[in-house]
Amino acid sequence: MPIIAPSFLASDFLRLADECTMVNESEAEWFHLDIMDGRFVPNISFGLPVVAAIRKTTKKVCDVHLMIEEPGNYAEAFKNAGADNLCVHIEACPNLHRNIQQIKSLGMRAGIAVNPHTPVNFLSDILHDIDFVNLMSVNPGFGGQEFIPFTLTKIAQLRQMIQERKLSVLIEIDGGVTFENAKEIVTAGADVLVAGSTVFKDKDPKAAIARLKSIG
Ligand code: DX5
Ligand code: ZN
Repeated sequence: MPIIAPSFLASDFLRLADECTMVNESEAEWFHLDIMDGRFVPNISFGLPVVAAIRKTTKKVCDVHLMIEEPGNYAEAFKNAGADNLCVHIEACPNLHRNIQQIKSLGMRAGIAVNPHTPVNFLSDILHDIDFVNLMSVNPGFGGQEFIPFTLTKIAQLRQMIQERKLSVLIEIDGGVTFENAKEIVTAGADVLVAGSTVFKDKDPKAAIARLKSIG
């Protein structure tokens, strides 16, 4: 069964404490927290104080997805805010290896996010250094977008690369995950399903999480 990572971008910020309680009581293992800077992506979400506040509500994994330029300048701050997983975009990091070493030396699990147009082959020489890949199945910046079907091919390619090298890197799929496509995403090789709208816009979010988990 896949790990479920509800994306708080789709949560009701006025009821954030209740939303955290809901996820804590659910079968979800990870809290997915989307950080946007209005530069790497054309949107701004929330930042360090919100991550720190959410962290206080949970012992589950805080999975922080940085959609920001120069993420190295903020890695330590996100560690201090309570991130367990820190994920940077390959497209934002000319010195990616240095960013990954920094995240690991701070004691966090290191992930690399790749945009829909970025070939998974670009991960070839760094795959052995990381804990997970966030394969974006929408263009980053907004919740509620439609899953890009071609991404399924990339999941299978990446799964093959990981298997050939006998690595234990997790594959996380982020964007447009629904009850309809969850099965084929997991069958293609995904370990972690990020889901924003499908969870938080449902009238019974806890049941939606359980359903996503059992479908996969
Ligand atoms: C998009 C974010 C996603 C997003 C997923 O830039 O990285 O985590 O919130 O939301 P849904 O599931 O609604 O596509
Ligand atoms: Zn995300």
